[in-house]
Amino acid sequence: MCGIVGYFGPSQNSVEIVLEGLKRLEYRGYDSAGVSFIDEHNVLQNYKKAGKLDNLKIELKGKNLIARACIGHTRWATHGGVTDENAHPHHNDILSIIHNGIIENANDLKKELMSHGVKFKSETDSESFLELVTFELRKGKPILESISDSFKRIRGNSAFVILYPKTGEIFAIKRGAPLVCGINDITSEALVSSDPYALAGIVHKLYFPEDEVIVHLSGGNKNLVNFYELDLTKTTRYLSKKQDMSVEVSEKGEYEHFMLKEIHEQPELIRNLTQYYFAGEGREALEKVALYKPNRIYLSACGTAAYAGLVVRDYLEGINRIPANVELASEFRYRDPILKTGDVGIFVSQSGETADTLAAQSLCKKAGVKTLSIVNVDGSTLFRDCDDNLLIRAGVEIGVASTKAFTQQALTGRLMSAAMAGDLKDEAKKVKLTGKFALLAERIDRLLVQSDIIKSVAESIYNKKGFFYTGRGAYFPIALEGALKLKEIAYVHAEGYAAGELKHGPIALIDEEMVNIALVGPELFEKTVSNVQEIKARKGIIVSIGPRNNEELMDLSDYYIPLDFEGLEELSPLYVNVVNQLLAYYMAKFKGTDIDKPRNLAKSVTVE
Ligand code: M6R
Repeated sequence: MCGIVGYFGPSQNSVEIVLEGLKRLEYRGYDSAGVSFIDEHNVLQNYKKAGKLDNLKIELKGKNLIARACIGHTRWATHGGVTDENAHPHHNDILSIIHNGIIENANDLKKELMSHGVKFKSETDSESFLELVTFELRKGKPILESISDSFKRIRGNSAFVILYPKTGEIFAIKRGAPLVCGINDITSEALVSSDPYALAGIVHKLYFPEDEVIVHLSGGNKNLVNFYELDLTKTTRYLSKKQDMSVEVSEKGEYEHFMLKEIHEQPELIRNLTQYYFAGEGREALEKVALYKPNRIYLSACGTAAYAGLVVRDYLEGINRIPANVELASEFRYRDPILKTGDVGIFVSQSGETADTLAAQSLCKKAGVKTLSIVNVDGSTLFRDCDDNLLIRAGVEIGVASTKAFTQQALTGRLMSAAMAGDLKDEAKKVKLTGKFALLAERIDRLLVQSDIIKSVAESIYNKKGFFYTGRGAYFPIALEGALKLKEIAYVHAEGYAAGELKHGPIALIDEEMVNIALVGPELFEKTVSNVQEIKARKGIIVSIGPRNNEELMDLSDYYIPLDFEGLEELSPLYVNVVNQLLAYYMAKFKGTDIDKPRNLAKSVTVE
């Protein structure tokens, strides 16, 4: 969740380079930020500030930032409040460290170290690792051995980057948390980060170390990076890959927020997806999936990705007639599910780094179940761990609220279902599906042009007490996703409900201050309208998203957002979902919240 970046090399601008990397990762955690570097007089300098990265930048103004080695961090708080003291890096006069993850036995380690007279400055778990390594160094052990012996003692999933002022070098190690390093062998620079995106445009080659491999950055030297096992022997337990990510994609351009930009990118991404899978580089991956003959499919994911999983489940059951379950990864991993050979586990994720989703994948793998990812980030941990992968091709998603990734996950799932149904061998079926994708893209394009109607509805309702998003059948997952979007960016209470379930309890909450966002697609139309009647009868405010020119629903509704569903068939829910994305966006804008970086959240949830 935290962003971590380290630089070692000949450039004296290491602080600037690290700050630029942190800026790119700030969407992953933004409670506080800090840097440690070794200045031109070989003295360790540390600066850290609660709040966003800009606070740190203000703090650094006018300071001498000439340095060849620097580590930096943006934090998503787990242990200890959002304060300057709890911000990373944590340092003493021997070491500085940054940490992403949770040290589960931190309290025991702290007690033990305190009994030896060690004093702690922060409330964080991270500081226990700093003091543990320092304790080993004080015994006279070399740095590599001290890191190794300390790391063996900590429990839980973590990644650490360590700056060692004595030699000016940087080390890193991880277990179950993302870590990547990269080199530029022309400029002799070596960097490390929690995300390859921070390194884009600087390095040419990426290395993804496996768990418990110590990474030693020695930029400027013959080997820019070295890898060691915990027994200190050299190792090749890492995956190397060319760095081909571009940086320009991260600009907001004409848009006020990344979220709005990402909503607008959807039509183009939808059009490109069928091309990629039917005629481009994705063909091979889809052909492989076409050979699957699963008895049962478990889809597992978190948050928005889990809701996309529900959409995919409906395709698998409805089109392929394959039994499919959707499992929240955070629960699935701790159940004792009945997994059998012949089952397939599908893991849906934007980042490919979500801790619970990774654990669910590992559970399936251990049970001998084939695993497939539907994932955005090529080369992410999930991508590397799964047997097969379908990339969703959404490009970099910066807004913490996932939008385009949801649409692409569901559509990639639709292509997967087509492949499993044998449609890849049938040209006519491929043309028909490509046409449907194009139609969805066109309808969304038109909706975006007419988004003022959604904006004006948002203006009328944004300060109401609470929101029920309701839908039936294929619209139920969209109701869940719509409510999540509103909660996370507008900070209002919203619930997604199966429309038929309201009268089993929640209807007691309906009054003239409660809004029902009714998702009324062509499927189960009359049944859903009856449910809207029930809310209307209790004076709820009705906002309907339904078929154009439907007078019955229009009369019933306080606000009506008309859509053209013809020809979209099973893709219709994804069209409705874009209305929900815009409604949430505009409501948040009227409320004045921080849309791209909502409070308390982080883009990539790498702790369980
Ligand atoms: O990177 P992932 O898709 O695995 O992330 C899963 C969830 O954390 C994510 O979808 C989260 O719910 C979003 N903030 C929702 O907008």
